[in-house]
Amino acid sequence: MRPARALLAFCCLVVLTAGARSPDFCSQDLNSGLKPGFPETIKTDDPGVLAAARHSVERFNNCTDDIFLFKESFVRRALVQIVKGLKYMLEVEFSRTTCRKTSHAQLDNCDFQSNHTLKQTLSCYSEVWVIPWLQKVEVPVLRCH
Ligand SMILES: *[C@@H]1O[C@H](CO)[C@@H](O)[C@H](O)[C@H]1NC(C)=O
Ligand SMILES: *[C@@H]1O[C@H](CO)[C@@H](O)[C@H](O)[C@H]1NC(C)=O
Repeated sequence: MRPARALLAFCCLVVLTAGARSPDFCSQDLNSGLKPGFPETIKTDDPGVLAAARHSVERFNNCTDDIFLFKESFVRRALVQIVKGLKYMLEVEFSRTTCRKTSHAQLDNCDFQSNHTLKQTLSCYSEVWVIPWLQKVEVPVLRCH
């Protein structure tokens, strides 16, 4: 029994060592290059980040009583974590547009305010949880100042 265990340990050690030498050994089924469970920095112009920023500002607009719609104007930093789908953590800025909420305009068609009295930009932190196979998007955290 003892020799068998020793042999097993030896085999595993060899496999692990060989794996560590080959960069592709452990990442074949992780084509995104992300390690499950750990937040990773992601490009701020990644399509998933931009969609998450849009969801955040839509949530913001729905929860505030400003007469104008705000739109995401800058993504400062983005992290993503694999959690039953993808959880984005964003440092993002929202700026007031010229579209009134009552107009029900599409945000893509809304320009930012140029009027100095009405211009406003807020710095926000949001967490956006996307579960593609359930077509579900939640914004569990949204803080702006
Ligand atoms: C929008 O706001 C209403 C009332 O404040 C709330 O009941 C609703 O859940 C909100 N919807 C979203 C998507 O945040
Ligand atoms: C800017 O907005 C304020 C407040 O609505 C308004 O009184 C002012 O006339 C506007 N200025 C310009 C240049 O449009």
